[in-house]
Amino acid sequence: MLETRDLTIRFGGHVAVDHVSCAFQPGTLTAIVGPNGAGKTTYFNLISGQLRASEGSVHLKGVDITREPASSRTQRGLGRAFQLTQLFPNLSVVENVRLAVQARRREGLNLWSVWLDHRNTLERAHSLVERVQLGARSDDTAASLPHGDQRKLEVAILMALEPSVYMFDEPTAGMSLDDVPVILDLIRQLKEQRDKTILLVEHKMDVVRELADRIVVLHNGKLVADGEPERVIAMPVVQQAYLGTSLGVTLEEAT
Ligand SMILES: Nc1ncnc2c1ncn2[C@@H]1O[C@H](COP(=O)(O)OP(=O)(O)O)[C@@H](O)[C@H]1O
Ligand SMILES: [Mg+2]
Repeated sequence: MLETRDLTIRFGGHVAVDHVSCAFQPGTLTAIVGPNGAGKTTYFNLISGQLRASEGSVHLKGVDITREPASSRTQRGLGRAFQLTQLFPNLSVVENVRLAVQARRREGLNLWSVWLDHRNTLERAHSLVERVQLGARSDDTAASLPHGDQRKLEVAILMALEPSVYMFDEPTAGMSLDDVPVILDLIRQLKEQRDKTILLVEHKMDVVRELADRIVVLHNGKLVADGEPERVIAMPVVQQAYLGTSLGVTLEEAT
């Protein structure tokens, strides 16, 4: 479904993502872990098109999308949670979701199909708003939502686009304890659909352990481990990363 080959980006002399080759299969949730500054977000930015690769390539469903802008990658089915700043702060929750549903669907040319489409679109938007548990807030403006609810809205918009690949970059960061299970439940539900390719950057190892079919470890921009969760979690490189101790020696051994 998705593959990066020797994907690399340099910022000045610094190699933030360093020849990362990795393929992601449908029906699989891959957790991408690694210490702060490892290159996880930059790797996502290269895949989704927010950044251009210095070297290497990105392939989606067998098509080389390395030189395509983010918008056409989205159209091809690459789904990255939007930042709320890119949405419409003064529109309501349900209107924001409705626009995403509309972007996904094509309107017919006669009035009857436009009406049917409008009605179906609105129904779909409301059901997505319910699904992310924002029903009570559906008429509030996006800008007025507390942080946790904004993240839920991002997920609703992402689901409205019906992507083949879902990318979540620390989806529960900064959330209250009440909100975290809502987001994790949504990711769990997507996983249960069995046809989605899901990439999840997450620091909480209990979450990773529960959700991941596979763990990829990045360190200093390099892919240093890739495999089944239990096996990867047991590796010294991961143990040390998550205990916050020095990584240097063990990582050299691991690579
Ligand atoms: N636009 C940029 N310009 C310069 N350096 C960047 C830029 N984006 C990221 N970096 C650097 O790339 C490295 C990886 O960052 P990042 O991908 O955000 O790490 P992570 O998400 O794993 O914490 C860091 O050293 C960061 O400072
Ligand atoms: Mg990051």
